[in-house]
Order: sequence, then C-alpha cells, then structure tokens
Amino acid sequence: MTPIISAKKICFEYFKGIKVLKNINFEINKGEVVAIIGQNGSGKTTLVKHFNGLLSPTKGEIIVKGEPTLNKTVAQLSRISGYVFQNPDDQIFNSVVEKEVAFGPSNIGLKGKELKDRVNNALNLVGLFEKRKMHPLDLDLNQKKLVAIASMIAMKPDLLMLDEPTTGQDHAGLIRVENLINELRKDYTVIIISHDMNLVSRVASRIVMMCEGEILFDGEPKKAFTKNALLKKTYLKPPVITELAQSLKGFKKDILTVDEFMEDLMRIKKKKK
Ligand SMILES: Nc1ncnc2c1ncn2[C@@H]1O[C@H](COP(=O)(O)OP(=O)(O)O)[C@@H](O)[C@H]1O
Ligand SMILES: [Mg+2]
Repeated sequence: MTPIISAKKICFEYFKGIKVLKNINFEINKGEVVAIIGQNGSGKTTLVKHFNGLLSPTKGEIIVKGEPTLNKTVAQLSRISGYVFQNPDDQIFNSVVEKEVAFGPSNIGLKGKELKDRVNNALNLVGLFEKRKMHPLDLDLNQKKLVAIASMIAMKPDLLMLDEPTTGQDHAGLIRVENLINELRKDYTVIIISHDMNLVSRVASRIVMMCEGEILFDGEPKKAFTKNALLKKTYLKPPVITELAQSLKGFKKDILTVDEFMEDLMRIKKKKK
C-alpha cells in the first residue's frame, strides 16, 4: 500500500541555523488515526504543515501518495491532506458559516447540488447545520473550531489533520470532538495533535511522541503509555486510568480504558479466590 504521506529525513528551520525539525522520518497509511503528542514547541504543528505544503522542508522530502510535493501547490495538496489550524481565526475569513465551508470545494470547481450536498454533509457531521447562516465570529470558540473542521471535511481529502481540536473545549466540547473523530475514522485517515492523553488513548491507533524536533516514539498507544521515562522527558503524563493502574499492585501497566481496568480487576479478584 502506498502511504498517504511519507516524510523522508526532513529537517526544517524557520531561521537559518535553528533546527526545528531534525531528520524526521514519518509515514501514515490509509485508515490510521495517528495522535502526535509532545510539549509546546516540540515541532508538532511545523511537522504537519509539511504534509499539505504550507511549509517545505529545508532538507529531505515529502512524498504524498507516491509523488514528491516539491512542485505542488497547497491548493493541489488540499485535495489529499487537509490541515485544520489550531486557532480557527487563522483559517476562517468568510462572513457566513456555509460560505466558509463552501469556499474550498467551490474553488476546486464544485457547483450546484454537489456543492450544496458537500457543505450540508460536512455541517451535519460537525453538528452545525442549524448555524449555517450565522457569522462565524458570532460563534463560540468550540463552534468556530468545528466550522474550521467542516471546511476541511467538505474538501473530502484522504487525510484530515486536526491541530489541537480539544484545546479550550469544555466537557461537552470534548465529547463532541471524540464522537466526531470516531465518525471521521470511518472514511478518513486522521492526524490529531492533542495534549489530552485521555482522548488520545481512546481514539488513536498509533502515537507519535515528539520532543525538540525529533520523534522519540512511534507506535501503539499501549506501548507509548508504558514508556514513563520518555513521557517524563516530554512533560506528558499517561491517561488517568493508566496512571491509576500503574500505581496499584498486580494491575497490568498498559491499561488505557475504564473497561480494561474493570476487566483486570475481575482477573485479579478471580486469582485471589
Ligand atoms: N512562524 C514561526 N516563525 C518562527 N519560529 C516558529 C514559527 N512557528 C513555530 N516556531 C518555532 O518552532 C518551534 C516548534 O513550534 P511548533 O511547531 O509550533 O511546535 P508545537 O506545535 O509542538 O507546539 C518552536 O520553537 C516555535 O517557537
Ligand atoms: Mg502546535
């Protein structure tokens, strides 16, 4: 299978001599939900901006669906990989929600019913259909983030990259984002950048841990959250339920969900009998 994105030994500098990405190798295949985690400034956003051409590597190359990105524009790449900005105000510029969501698809030539269906489906998926006539700036931050996500969904790219969709969300917003990711994973490959380890442990099929421009770990969530020394280096903590299990005698150390915790509790109880 050709990976959707393949980054080969990429380095990046915003200012000459200051390496923000250091020799990164990364691949993502269809159907994966990859969470990129790491402290602020570790290079997560810089890395994913390479995947839709917003940034070009200083060294190394990015291959998108088998083709080098060197001479491709962001507009061309946006059909394959859609990046949703962390701050929706950096992305949204139309004065009506549905116009904002229609902007990308109409730019690639969609019209009439096809365009309308795309927009309405995307708005339905994020739960904002009722707000389609509103001014995006009259929405709260959570909703603006969802508009930004909807505008990318409307492009129907292979890969959706969500940059900190949970930052600043209240509990209801967190649940909405988790449900949305579970919907998106049916049709899209997803990269999510997040500091919410509880969410990440539930939705990610793979975790990439970044620190100072390098990838320290790339693998299964169960393995990621037992790498306590690495987590400490990146100032991350495992999910609460994992930490609890790790602090209790006899429990498995790679528990990620409450269900797994309960299962292990039963196992321990049975053993004691
Ligand atoms: N537009 C920019 N110009 C200069 N330096 C930047 C810019 N964006 C990010 N940086 C720097 O690059 C490093 C990585 O930033 P970033 O990719 O935003 O990290 P993260 O997303 O993990 O928080 C940080 O040191 C940050 O200050
Ligand atoms: Mg960032």
